[in-house]
Amino acid sequence: MMKTAELLYDKLKNVESGTSGPYSRERCEQMAPLVDEINRLKKEKNAVILVHSYVHPEIIYGVGDFTGDSYQLSKNAKEADADLIIFVAVRFMAETAKALNPGKEVRIPSRLSGCSLADSITGEDVRRLKAAHPDFTFVCYINTSAEVKAECDVCVTSSNVYNIVERIPSDKIYFLPDKLMGENLQDEMKRRGVKKEIRLYEGNCYVHAEYDAGRVDRLRKKYPEIKILSHPECSRDIIEQSDVVASTTGMMDYMRQDEKGSAYLLLTECGLAGRAQVEMPGKTFIGPCLECKYMKSNSLEDVRRVLLNPEPEDLIEITPEIREGSLRCIDAMFHYAEQK
Ligand code: 13P
Ligand code: SF4
Repeated sequence: MMKTAELLYDKLKNVESGTSGPYSRERCEQMAPLVDEINRLKKEKNAVILVHSYVHPEIIYGVGDFTGDSYQLSKNAKEADADLIIFVAVRFMAETAKALNPGKEVRIPSRLSGCSLADSITGEDVRRLKAAHPDFTFVCYINTSAEVKAECDVCVTSSNVYNIVERIPSDKIYFLPDKLMGENLQDEMKRRGVKKEIRLYEGNCYVHAEYDAGRVDRLRKKYPEIKILSHPECSRDIIEQSDVVASTTGMMDYMRQDEKGSAYLLLTECGLAGRAQVEMPGKTFIGPCLECKYMKSNSLEDVRRVLLNPEPEDLIEITPEIREGSLRCIDAMFHYAEQK
């Protein structure tokens, strides 16, 4: 049987994106005992480890049970057959898992577990906006706290935002907190011929907002054959130049099925290029990528800490009232997402 260090090296040797790599054989040998310990603890405690694609690859490939985008991970959390959920990502995702699993303990390894979108708005802000816009349906991006979700009508993710807003039977939508995603939503509704008034809030993702349309244009001219894939949190100047706009899982699925394509520019967090380098070794990834300091603050040591000796700030707790409100908002998302 292949040893853990060999298995890790075999997976990670091609990772070149951002600051995670490179992964030498020696580095994998050093990480292997910790990976083995975490996998043993996971079994002992009947835990499941959910991991977002943006975290360091040794967590995804060494100890993760499920990796995906926010929508997929919220479904995995809903279906989790475990006593304990370790959510290796950011706090709002772990809060969603807790709302869906009140009887299970949810722990988050990162101490820097914020998100520039989720941190841009509070429940009090939403109450004020609702008072000023009484006839609007409030749609929030999943990148919000449970408290904010509890104040909103429907939650959406990057994989379903366009379809859900089209399906909501209201022609006045207040979308929050991502202004850039909201502008892309306005444009997409126009393209689909859907007439809705869509008001926006002023938040943004500090990572996706950084991508520069001029630089993307220069890369397109230099490599005319590349396919540009972008996340809907990017600005509309970027979206206009993109071949595909999708969630992180949507981008992975597109590249897997794109038999002819061989070179891509991925306008999202570096972790996705890392996953693609591991899972699609025949393809090439061009250009720079940017890192999310919140997602990258999770380490293998943190995962062991929360499995073994969690401290109060590692545990996700939400009040019954906020749980009930946020669950109504999340369930509305599942309802619209699954509608044909
Ligand atoms: P996904 O739902 O596409 O994984 O996006 C989550 C996120 O935080 C993007 O920055
Ligand atoms: Fe939040 Fe942006 Fe990081 Fe995603 S990449 S978790 S939206 S700060």
